[in-house]
Amino acid sequence: MANPQLHPLEVNPRTGEPFLRLRKHKNVILTPPRSSDIPENIRYLNDPHVNDMLSGPPVPYLLEHAEAWYKVISTPSEETLAAIEAARDMPDLITVRHCPVRVIREVKEDGEDVFLGDIGLLRFDEGRLLAPDGLQADDEQKAKYVNANIERPVGDPEIVWSIGDYLAPSHHGRGIMTDVLETLLWDWAVPRMGVRRICASAFEGNHGSIRVFERNGFTVTKTVENWAVVKGRMRNLHVVEWDYSTAVPPSGSS
Ligand SMILES: CC(C)(COP(=O)(O)OP(=O)(O)OC[C@H]1O[C@@H](n2cnc3c(N)ncnc32)[C@H](O)[C@@H]1OP(=O)(O)O)[C@@H](O)C(=O)NCCC(=O)NCCS
Repeated sequence: MANPQLHPLEVNPRTGEPFLRLRKHKNVILTPPRSSDIPENIRYLNDPHVNDMLSGPPVPYLLEHAEAWYKVISTPSEETLAAIEAARDMPDLITVRHCPVRVIREVKEDGEDVFLGDIGLLRFDEGRLLAPDGLQADDEQKAKYVNANIERPVGDPEIVWSIGDYLAPSHHGRGIMTDVLETLLWDWAVPRMGVRRICASAFEGNHGSIRVFERNGFTVTKTVENWAVVKGRMRNLHVVEWDYSTAVPPSGSS
C-alpha cells in the first residue's frame, strides 16, 4: 500500500516514483529530479528564450554546472521522501522541509514522459530584499536576515520562501506554469510545508513570469532600478509577494 504520508502525491505503479499531477493540465506532472534530466537541462539552460531571464545559471551552461545542480536539487527531494517514509505510521500528516517533486514532465499516451522544465521552492536568501532597509544595509545586516530565515524551524509561518522556474520554450504560453505554481502552492506548499509567505522576482520585461505570479494572487510590491548586470545587460527587478493571510484559495483547495 502507498504510504499515506505521501498525500496528495500519487505513485507511478510501474516505477514506484511519486508524482504530483497538475490541477488543470492532467497530462503534466511534477516528479523528483532524475539524473537522466541532465542533458535536457543543459539544452534548455543554453536556450536564450530561457536563460536570458534567469540570473542563476551561467552561460554557457556546461555538464559540470548541470551535474552540480542535480546534486543540489536531488538531495532535499531524497531527504524529504526519507522523512515521509519514516513517518509512514504516524496518524497525522507531518509537515516537511521541502517539496520532493519539482521537475515538470509531460506524460505521453504510451505512459512515457518528457522533461519540460523545473520549479523550485526555496528559502529566500536575497539579503537586499529581506532586510527592511536592505538596499542600503551593510553585508552583516543582510547576512543576519538571510541566516535568520534559513534557521527558522520547519513549518514556521514566518519563513519567507521564494520561487524559481523555467519551462521548455515549445510549451510557453499554454498556461502550464500558471497551473504548476497553483498546484505546487495549494497541493503541497501550503498544506505540507506550512508555507505562508513568498517573495519572488522577475526582471523587468519578463511579462510571462509576472503574469504567472499575478494569476496566482501575487502582487508586484516594488521595482528596483539597476538591480544587477545579468547576461551583459543592466536589469531592473520587479519584486512580487504573496501572503497566505490575504490569499484566496482556488476552488479545490482544502
Ligand atoms: C515565464 C515562464 C515560466 C511562463 O510560463 P508559461 O507556462 O509560458 O506561462 P503561462 O502560459 O502560464 O502564461 C501566463 C501569462 O503569461 C503570458 N505569457 C507567457 N509567456 C509569455 C511571453 N513570452 N511573453 C508575453 N507573455 C507571456 C501568457 O499570455 C499569460 O498571460 P495572461 O494571463 O495575460 O493570459 C516561461 O515563459 C519561461 O520559462 N520563461 C523563461 C524562464 C523564465 O523567465 N523563468 C522565470 C524567471 S523569474
